[in-house]
Amino acid sequence: MKSQKQQNKNLFASKVGAILAAAGSAVGLGNVWRFPTETGENGGAAFILIYVLFMLLLATPIMVTEFVIGRHGQSSVGESFVKMSGGNKAWRWMGLLPVVSGILVLSYYAVIAGWTMHYTSEALMNHFYGKTAADYSAEFEAFSSDPVRPVIWTAVIILLTGGVVALGVQKGIERGAKVMMPLLFLFIIILVGCSLSLPDASKGLTFLFRPDFSKVTSSVVLSAMGQAFFSLSVGIGCLCTYACYFQKNVDLMHDGMKVAVIDTSVALLSGLIIFPAVYSIPGLQPDAGPSLVFVTLPNVFQQVFSDSPVIAYSMSLVFYLLLVMAALTSSISMLEMSSVYFSTKFKIPRVVSTFAVSIVCVVLGSFCSLSFGDWKDVTFFGMGFFDLFDFIVAKLLMPIGGFIMCVFVGWIVDKEVLKNEMTNGGAIKSPLYVVYRFIIRYFAPLCIFLIFANELGWFKWLM
Ligand code: PHE
Repeated sequence: MKSQKQQNKNLFASKVGAILAAAGSAVGLGNVWRFPTETGENGGAAFILIYVLFMLLLATPIMVTEFVIGRHGQSSVGESFVKMSGGNKAWRWMGLLPVVSGILVLSYYAVIAGWTMHYTSEALMNHFYGKTAADYSAEFEAFSSDPVRPVIWTAVIILLTGGVVALGVQKGIERGAKVMMPLLFLFIIILVGCSLSLPDASKGLTFLFRPDFSKVTSSVVLSAMGQAFFSLSVGIGCLCTYACYFQKNVDLMHDGMKVAVIDTSVALLSGLIIFPAVYSIPGLQPDAGPSLVFVTLPNVFQQVFSDSPVIAYSMSLVFYLLLVMAALTSSISMLEMSSVYFSTKFKIPRVVSTFAVSIVCVVLGSFCSLSFGDWKDVTFFGMGFFDLFDFIVAKLLMPIGGFIMCVFVGWIVDKEVLKNEMTNGGAIKSPLYVVYRFIIRYFAPLCIFLIFANELGWFKWLM
C-alpha cells in the first residue's frame, strides 16, 4: 500500500489540471484526423448528427462512469473495479482491458502521430512552399508507403511518449496539457477562418451540415459510435486510470461534460477546416481516407497565404507542432494505462515498465506503418494491420468495455456508493444524476447491444 504522501504526489495538483489532462487525452488526432476521415468516408452530415447524439447519450455518460470508478477506487483499473463492487475479486479481470487496448491503440495511433511529426519537419524546412495539390498528394503517397521513414517516426513518437510517462503524472502530463490545449484551440479557430475564406467553402458546409439520411447504413451507425468512443477515449479504462489521480472535490459530472463539449467542438471545428478546403482544391474527394488531412492542410496554408510566404511558413509550422502535442497528450494516456498496470502488478519501477511496453508498441507500430506500403496485401478479415487494430479498438473493445462499465455501475455497484461519488459525499448537487443513472442502466447498454446485434445480423432494423 502506498503512503498517503506518495499518493498525494500522484494526484493532479489542481482541479483545472485534472480536467485539462482528461481533455488532453480526449482531444487528439481522433478529432483532427480521424473525425474528418470518418465523416468523409461515411457521407457527411448524417454521420455527424448520429455521432453528436452518441457523444451526448453514450460516450459522455460512459466517461463519467469511468471517472466514478477510477476516483472511487484510487487504484489500478482492476483494483478499482474490485473495490467498487464491494470486494468481488472476479472484477480484477477488467484490469486487463486497459493493458490490451492501450498497447493496441498506441501502436497504430503512433503511426499517424509519426506522420504529423514528419509534416512538422517538412514545415520547418519550408518544403510546402510553391507546390501544387497534386504534389502534396504524390508526396504523401510516397512517404506513407515508404518502408523506413514512417517507421522511424512511429518509434520516435512512442519513445517520446515513454519519456513523459516515465516522468510521472504531475510533471509530465498536467504541465503539458495546460500549455498546449488553449493554444491548439486558438489555432484551430484561426484556421477555420482561413478555410471558410476559400472559393468553394460553401460546398464543404453543405457536406457537413445538410444530412442525407438515405446514406445511413448499419456500418455508418457503428462507425459513428466508434468515433464517439474513440474521440472521448472511453470504454477501455483510460479515463478510469486518470480519474484515480483526481482530487475528491472534482465534480465528475460537470467536468465530464466540459471535456465532452471541448472534445466535440474541436472535432466539429476540424471538419470546418478540412471540408471547405477539400471542395476548393481540384482533384480532392471527401472520401480520400487517411490522407485527407495531410493533403488538405498544406494546401490551405499555401492558398490562403499565397501573398505572404512568411505567414504561410509560420502558420503551418506552429499548427503541425500543436498537432504533435495534441497527439502526445493522447498517446501519453494510452501508454500510462499499461505502464501503470505492469509497474504495480510486478512491483517494478515505472521507468522499466514504461520502456518495456514502449518496445512492444514500436514493434506492433511498425507492422501498422508497413500496412500502408509493403505489407498492403497482408490482411486479416480484409483489413491490414492498421485498419484491423483500429477496428478492434474503436468498434469492438471500446463499445464492449463501455457496455460492461454501464452494467457494472448501473446494476452491480451499491446505489449509495454511486450517489456518494457523484455528489462528493453530499457536498455538491448533481441535478443530472437521475438522467445519468437512467442512461447507464437502460439506454446505453440497450443501445450498444442493438447496434452490435444489427451488425452481426441477428436482426436487422437498419440497412
Ligand atoms: N481520444 C483520443 C483522440 O481523440 C484517442 C485516444 C483513444 C486516447 C483511446 C486514449 C485512449 O485522439
